[in-house]
Amino acid sequence: MRLGRRQFLGGAVALGATALIAPLARRAGAQPKFSTSPFTLGVASGYPLPNGVVLWTRLAPSPLIPGGGMSPDVVIVDWEVASDDRMGQIVRRGTAAASPAWAHSVHVEVDGLEPGRWYWYRFRAGSEVSPIGRTRTAPAVNASLERLRFAFASCQQYEQGYYGAHHRMAGDNLDLLVFLGDYIYEASWGRDHVRHHGAPEPFTLEDYRIRHALYKTDADLQASHAACPWIMTWDDHEVSNDYADDRSEQAHPREWFLERRAGAYKAYFEHMPLRNYMVPLGPQMRLYDQVTFGNLIRFHLIDDRQYRSHQPCVGPGRGGSTVVEECADRLDARLTMLGEVQERWLDASLDRSRARWNVIAQQTLMAQLDRKVGPGQQFWTDGWDGYPVARRRLLDYVGNRKPANPVVIGGDVHAFYVADLKPDFDDPKSPVVATEFVGTSVTSQFGRSQQAMDALRGENPHLRLANGAHRGYVRMDVTPKRLTAELRAMRSVTQPRAEVDTLATFVVEDGRLGAVRA
Ligand SMILES: [Fe+2]
Repeated sequence: MRLGRRQFLGGAVALGATALIAPLARRAGAQPKFSTSPFTLGVASGYPLPNGVVLWTRLAPSPLIPGGGMSPDVVIVDWEVASDDRMGQIVRRGTAAASPAWAHSVHVEVDGLEPGRWYWYRFRAGSEVSPIGRTRTAPAVNASLERLRFAFASCQQYEQGYYGAHHRMAGDNLDLLVFLGDYIYEASWGRDHVRHHGAPEPFTLEDYRIRHALYKTDADLQASHAACPWIMTWDDHEVSNDYADDRSEQAHPREWFLERRAGAYKAYFEHMPLRNYMVPLGPQMRLYDQVTFGNLIRFHLIDDRQYRSHQPCVGPGRGGSTVVEECADRLDARLTMLGEVQERWLDASLDRSRARWNVIAQQTLMAQLDRKVGPGQQFWTDGWDGYPVARRRLLDYVGNRKPANPVVIGGDVHAFYVADLKPDFDDPKSPVVATEFVGTSVTSQFGRSQQAMDALRGENPHLRLANGAHRGYVRMDVTPKRLTAELRAMRSVTQPRAEVDTLATFVVEDGRLGAVRA
């Protein structure tokens, strides 16, 4: 019998993997023996609900070889959730099937937990036991929540630095981590590498699995996953630089590129604590979602890669981005960043939210960034500046419908930005409709001098801060009255576990748009 994906991933997990998977696994030999631990990639959790959370691991005793060092059998993995950090009081347990078809990854949607509290979890395969992870459920729907502490981060090119930012986030006692894309990089680039991918650019599913596995072998990244639940979206480098929907930067044949994308998306799913319904179908994978924490905060996570129009203004036979001055195609009203279905979903998610804070978690800088100092304007077309009509439509919507305290967070550009978001950035009278924070990169390099960044602020008065001098992350402390954002700057990424400083702190007061420097 061939199991449908719904039965396999959804049904099996919901039934505690007893009915469907047990016979299969018995045939395959359910008690594996490992000569080394298969838990080399750590554990993770994500997408908290009031009664549960997603738990993840992957069995890979030799993570950097095809197949991860596993034999091609289905393996039964036991999981347990405890109310204490020593796993003394087990509150939920069950089994899940780790299938070679999914790189022996495990996604367990635990339910039956209490809202708004910490839990600990681990896995067992054969006689091997995983490290213990810590996770937290969301508060009950509309329950009052007095505080949420989260961090957001993006862009972690492995060769360009150590994950000191993850080491720090793991120690920040966060309730949640929001990752905004470029979790892996497909390409080797940049200078002063501290370590190496050790493999060429990935193209196949197996290549992408090995790239994800390499990144996940990092102890600081594992610690950051084990410290709290994550929610996430992706950007281009999870597949390839500057791709847009079905078009690669090099404008490869569409079918070839979609096959590559399918492998990349599948490997992404296999390595992240994602909800089972997100499981990819070929080159399609629904990643956008909302996650709500009581009456305090709703995260609207969006995907601006999979459904976007091709970037405008590139030459014939090319895809990807460019920097343009005059190009009427950029203003084409048909250009979309989210696609029509997701755009309608986002509108509805904002309208239905009863949370005090509405965070739109997305990939890149949303504010306009005129890159040309002096007369005239120059825009980079891979960001929202390539899709200004779509941006205006979203910001007009936010301005008209007025969801409570809209805050946009982003990554991608390897620099900190704090901005006022306005429907028309060229009109000084255009109202501020949302507040934006863009985190810098965990490690990925930035090419512009601070002097050049300061000059950009003169061209773009809606920017309250622009700083590309540091790698790091943003830490947020949210209460009903205010949101406090600390821009956390690592002193070094070429030294493991370097010190971190707060570059600046900004506050957004409830009911006021725009961040004020504290
Ligand atoms: Fe990046």
